[in-house]
Amino acid sequence: MALLWKLASVLVVALAGVADAKTADGRVNANIQRRPSVPIVPLPDVGPVTSRNGTQLPPYNTTYYFDQLIDHTNPSLGTFKQRYWTTYEWYETGGPIILFTPGEANAQPYSGYLTNRTINGQIAQELGGVTIVLEHRYYGLSNPYGDLSVKSLKYHTIQQAIDDLEYFAKNVDLPMPGGDAVKPGQAPWILVGGSYSGALTSFTMVNKPNLFQAAYASSAVVESIIDYWGYFQPILEWMPKNCSTDVQAVIAHIDSVFTSGNKKEIDSIKALFNMSALTHLDDAAGALRNNLWDWQSLSPSSGGGLFFEFCDALEVKNGVSAGPNGWGLEHALQAWGSYWTNTYYSILCGDEDVVTCLGTYDPTQEEWTDISVDNAGRSWMWIVCNEVGFFQEGAPKGHPTIVTRLVQPPYDERQCTYMFPEAFAHLGHLPVPNVDATNKAYHGWFVQENHLFFANGHRDPWREATLAADGTHFRSTPGQPLAISDGFHCSDLSTTNGQVDSTVLAVQKQGLQAIAGWVAEWKPSKH
Ligand SMILES: *[C@@H]1O[C@H](CO)[C@@H](O)[C@H](O)[C@H]1NC(C)=O
Ligand SMILES: *[C@@H]1O[C@H](CO)[C@@H](O)[C@H](O)[C@H]1NC(C)=O
Ligand SMILES: *[C@@H]1O[C@H](CO)[C@@H](O)[C@H](O)[C@H]1NC(C)=O
Ligand SMILES: *[C@@H]1O[C@H](CO)[C@@H](O)[C@H](O)[C@H]1NC(C)=O
Ligand SMILES: *[C@@H]1O[C@H](CO)[C@@H](O)[C@H](O)[C@H]1NC(C)=O
Repeated sequence: MALLWKLASVLVVALAGVADAKTADGRVNANIQRRPSVPIVPLPDVGPVTSRNGTQLPPYNTTYYFDQLIDHTNPSLGTFKQRYWTTYEWYETGGPIILFTPGEANAQPYSGYLTNRTINGQIAQELGGVTIVLEHRYYGLSNPYGDLSVKSLKYHTIQQAIDDLEYFAKNVDLPMPGGDAVKPGQAPWILVGGSYSGALTSFTMVNKPNLFQAAYASSAVVESIIDYWGYFQPILEWMPKNCSTDVQAVIAHIDSVFTSGNKKEIDSIKALFNMSALTHLDDAAGALRNNLWDWQSLSPSSGGGLFFEFCDALEVKNGVSAGPNGWGLEHALQAWGSYWTNTYYSILCGDEDVVTCLGTYDPTQEEWTDISVDNAGRSWMWIVCNEVGFFQEGAPKGHPTIVTRLVQPPYDERQCTYMFPEAFAHLGHLPVPNVDATNKAYHGWFVQENHLFFANGHRDPWREATLAADGTHFRSTPGQPLAISDGFHCSDLSTTNGQVDSTVLAVQKQGLQAIAGWVAEWKPSKH
């Protein structure tokens, strides 16, 4: 049922909006789409890194540079410096090379993914491998050109990113003894990714057969979907019942008032959330998605977090928690308004005013016009507007919804035209991300590869774009296992999550076992 809905929406819709911009947590605007990002795993606080035989190695945070082709279809355009981090802490001659990119982010904070605090390091430790964290093109400091203008973004495509992985594997001389002789064919390569980079992992197995001996894709958003209202469905399903009942009641009420034309009632709701200065009602109602978006940062080891603080604000009255039916509309609306204005707004927006933080209708706003590099929100928006969509909207009528139905794909598609006018303004209509082409090229949900392990989590808001989406029933096979924990987004990438959640540990063990078996089958070859 959910699948049918999604297929239908893919045919109908259009596209746009994106990721993060500078508020309290470094954003410019808090009313744009969330990225499906890989959680950061901090580096352990240990002494010097040593190899198996006790030799001291460079620290994990040592940055290396690879000369990457700007355009894989035209090498004469030259190269740019692509950053990477690596360690051979666990390496034994003949061991695998484990390549990971965090995808759509500056990769520098991700050097924890070199260590055994992550599945990457666990694989390396078990199989005597090398770990590598590679920064994705157009993120962080790995840029072909000095800005993120539309002209510069010409080579920012999923296909170029896949080609990067191949060119890197085939040409890198790793900074370790014998590091110039561990190319594919000389050593087994393993690709690991999560979230968007999990999808990239699946796409690469489809697009570059026989390059990687094995792959591990966590929370891989393989199916590109324009109207991705399914984002909020796992949240609705797993959040406390009283909270979901009340949130649905408040949203239904706000949607009803905001579409009623009753100015007095509209103004009183806006005033309750201190949003009187916002003229566009979709901005006002859409802003409330932030409380739900907070679910994405949960993990089995993270404890409560902001999401549960929000539910407590709605459901705990004079020290008493509501039953499964909640307290009802009247209390929930007042409580949400009060929590939003007195506590949450400053967490979300810092000291930005409400129009700057939550208004999306000013095309001259810095959010849309800043083209400096290392702006992951902008780089991701480019991929969103062109190739993947993933607009996190209210559910279609007839489905329960915890976010406003006032926000639909045209809301985000308009943001694409603000951010990239040179690319989209001449169209004369809103731009529609070409998700059909993406799904066709890389097989989306219908991927059938060998030596490709999929790990997912029931509580992941991105689950509906993975092989564990409701209503899909994709089978787990020996060549392409599908393992699902009770975890959240990419929970199984982190060792700590396995230590606190046995379902996550089971997925990690199954993954390690599968990878070890495939690596054991590897034989040297000419590449
Ligand atoms: C220890 O390992 C390093 C790096 O692999 C190597 O260069 C060195 O020769 C080894 N030393 C011994 C005593 O095996
Ligand atoms: C790397 O980490 C060490 C601490 O382990 C720190 O002193 C050093 O400044 C860091 N280097 C870089 C380039 O971040
Ligand atoms: C992880 O690696 C560190 C060395 O970097 C080691 O001390 C520790 O025992 C390892 N943890 C596990 C669970 O193997
Ligand atoms: C009701 O809300 C409280 C506070 O957020 C929560 O701890 C509790 O689990 C919820 N109970 C039900 C039945 O949803
Ligand atoms: C409401 O917003 C105004 C301006 O946007 C701000 O000055 C004021 O402090 C806010 N009030 C509360 C209670 O947050």
